Amino acid sequence: MKATFYGHACVGLQLSGADLLFDPFISPNKLAAQIDIDQLDPGYILLSHGHEDHLADLFDIQKNSKATVICNADIGYWLNKRGIKEVHGMNIGGAYNFDFGRVKMVTALHSSSLPDGSYGGNPGGFVISADDKKIYFAGDTALTYDMKLLADENLDCAFLPIGDNFTMGVDDAIRAADFINCKNIIGIHYNTFPPIQINEREAMDKFAAAGLNLRLLAIGESMEL
Ligand code: NI
Ligand code: MN
Repeated sequence: MKATFYGHACVGLQLSGADLLFDPFISPNKLAAQIDIDQLDPGYILLSHGHEDHLADLFDIQKNSKATVICNADIGYWLNKRGIKEVHGMNIGGAYNFDFGRVKMVTALHSSSLPDGSYGGNPGGFVISADDKKIYFAGDTALTYDMKLLADENLDCAFLPIGDNFTMGVDDAIRAADFINCKNIIGIHYNTFPPIQINEREAMDKFAAAGLNLRLLAIGESMEL
C-alpha cells in the first residue's frame, strides 16, 4: 500500500484493488503547482466534507476518471444534481465493503457547507481496511472524544490535520494520536494558507517527544504504509 501526498489534505492511496484519492484540492494550491491533475486517475474519490479546500478539483478529476465518489449522502445528492452519477453516499457510523476493502465513515468535529452555500451534511473521517492494513483519514476535525472509539482498531497509521485555526493543531493532534492509539501519524492540512502555517521542526520534535512518528511528506512524495 502506497500513499502519495498532493498537498493540503489531498492524499492518494494506492491499494492492490484500487487507487483512492482523498479531498482533491490541488490546482488552486500554489504549493502543489507541479502536480498535474490530468495525470490522476483514481477509481474512487473520498470526500470528507463540502469545503472548497477539499473538493476544488473533484469535478475535473471525476470527469476524467469516472471515479466513484464516496461522501456523505447530502453531498452525494448535490453531486448527483450536478451531473455526477457515480456516487456512493454514506453517513457517520456506517461502513461498506467495496471491491478494494472496507470503508467506515466516522465522526469529524467541523462544519460542511458546499461552495454554493448548499447544506453539506456532517463532516466525516474515514477508516479504510484494505490489504491487511487499517488507515484512518481524519478529514478536517477538532480533537474529539469520539476518536477514542478507534483505540481498539489497531490502526497502522493515521492522517491527521495539524495546521490549527480550522482544525486541530499539533498539540491536539498529539492527544488525538493517544486517543486513537496509533503512533504513525502523517500530517495534513498545514502550510497551505497563512493561518495554518506551522513550524515543521517544532512539530516533528513535539511528536518525537511524545513517542510518536510524524511524517511530513513533501508535495508529490510517496511512502509505503
Ligand atoms: Ni473544512
Ligand atoms: Mn479544510
